[in-house]
Amino acid sequence: MIANAVPPVMAFSAAEARAATIAAPPIAALTNSHAAQVPEYLRRHYWWAYVHPWAVRIFERPWLVNLILWGNYRRLCEAALAALGPVMSGRTVQLACVYGDLTNQLADDIAEARGSLDVIDVLPVQLANLREKLDPHSPVRLLQQDTTALAAADGSYDRALLFFLLHEQPEEVRARTLAETMRVVRPGGRVVIVDFARPSRWHPMRYFWLPILNRLEPFASGLWADKGTPWLPPDVGTVTRTAVFGGLYQIVTIDRPR
Ligand SMILES: C[S@@+](CC[C@H](N)C(=O)[O-])C[C@H]1O[C@@H](n2cnc3c(N)ncnc32)[C@H](O)[C@@H]1O
Repeated sequence: MIANAVPPVMAFSAAEARAATIAAPPIAALTNSHAAQVPEYLRRHYWWAYVHPWAVRIFERPWLVNLILWGNYRRLCEAALAALGPVMSGRTVQLACVYGDLTNQLADDIAEARGSLDVIDVLPVQLANLREKLDPHSPVRLLQQDTTALAAADGSYDRALLFFLLHEQPEEVRARTLAETMRVVRPGGRVVIVDFARPSRWHPMRYFWLPILNRLEPFASGLWADKGTPWLPPDVGTVTRTAVFGGLYQIVTIDRPR
């Protein structure tokens, strides 16, 4: 169990949700009854990357994460943090744990601004790993939830970060995650999505890396479009899309309507 909550870094399992609700307002519901269920697509397609206990031991290496991203890890982290905005006060939610030190950097920025960060993940092993990486005094809560059913009130966050999450989710799951993200981020708040994209026609990666990626990550192509973000629901707000590394990655910033 990932419990033994040592505030302010807190980890909640489904069984602790009720106690946590009492102990740690103001976010009322911290998890839900689906929390412990590992989605079928994760078990089937990503057991080797996230679910198996060995996955953390293998993949939690900065050089390996950077290699998988073709040397772009630092650049993408910096771009994600910059896109979230210069002001990091208030409440931020990160949908899903990531390997590497992105969350540490985010937590530092948020601590400096006296804000708070909730990190959601469905896998206890990933939350436990993140807990190990974080400074115990970080203003971070680790919540075991599914991104398709967030136990947070409408408009309860100022901003949300989704770093390489959506390409792993089948279309209907991705749609539910996006709907939940838009629901929990307040009017005027910001959503930042960093993920794979289809590089431009001149990019050699389009012809040798994309077919491999397609086999390893069977749902990633749902985010590939030669133009724009057709995979986003309509009317989410003002969308800015920046292509990175010849378009192999995209940074999408959504400013929610006021
Ligand atoms: C953010 S994604 C990819 C991160 C990227 N490959 C990296 O490590 O930099 C990986 C995480 O998403 C989580 N995840 C996937 N689907 C989820 C869902 N429906 N709800 C909550 N967490 C989910 C997995 O458990 C895993 O920890």
